[in-house]
Amino acid sequence: MKPFIVLLLALVAVVVGASTFIGLGAYNVAADDPHWPMTYRLMETVRGRSISTRAVDIAVPPLDDGALIRAGAGNYDAMCVGCHLSPGAPNTELSLGLYPPPPTWSELGAVDPREAFWVIKHGVKMSGMPAWGKSMDDRYIWGMVALLQQFPRMTKARYYQLVSTSGGHDHGGGESMPHNPATIPGMGGMDPASDAATGSSIELIDDPMTEAASGAAGEGPKPAHDHRHEH
Ligand code: HEC
Repeated sequence: MKPFIVLLLALVAVVVGASTFIGLGAYNVAADDPHWPMTYRLMETVRGRSISTRAVDIAVPPLDDGALIRAGAGNYDAMCVGCHLSPGAPNTELSLGLYPPPPTWSELGAVDPREAFWVIKHGVKMSGMPAWGKSMDDRYIWGMVALLQQFPRMTKARYYQLVSTSGGHDHGGGESMPHNPATIPGMGGMDPASDAATGSSIELIDDPMTEAASGAAGEGPKPAHDHRHEH
């Protein structure tokens, strides 16, 4: 009987200790207070196993389709650069302030396509990586995965060429021009219809969600980020 009582007391001590630790607010949730290396490694392992287990059966479409890559560039530039940056782009307040830090665009180029698709669609809890599947159709997510596959060979010029010929930001929730065309060199020559000439096997425009959501969503070109900060 004695070992049982010792075990029970140890369990009670752990529960009381943990409750006191939490109740006193002793754990610091601040993003500028890094995890212990051991905690970080543990979370990386949990994250890696969780994602690879869920992504293993995802069927990957052909990712070398030019129109798919360009569509991905338009969406990536509109939604992802604030955190993951792009070739030649300086750090942003988001890329510097988030913890865990968002991987940079060049690091995204090394991610397995199935895992990239899964993460983009479902997001990652407590990290700042949103679940884009809540607003984006799978085909648009594949477009961004296709773009990521190009990142290992990507130059700044090629990136902006892809963005400027992309047709802008489209995700089945209402189409629009890129949010801030003024920042993209060569936007003057943009021709959303040019994809029609490529004979893409993936139909990016005829999306049933588009009609339902456009108008209702009220999503038009967003104003540039032009308010002033005082640091
Ligand atoms: C608000 C910031 C933010 C935005 C916006 C954002 N991400 Fe992320 N993303 C993150 C963070 C932070 C992580 C790292 C999560 C982690 O460590 O678990 C991440 C992780 C990822 C990963 C997984 C990388 C890996 O090593 O497995 C991919 C792929 C990715 N993001 C793609 C995108 C794409 C594509 C977009 C745009 C549609 C996007 N992200 C927008 C913050 C962001």
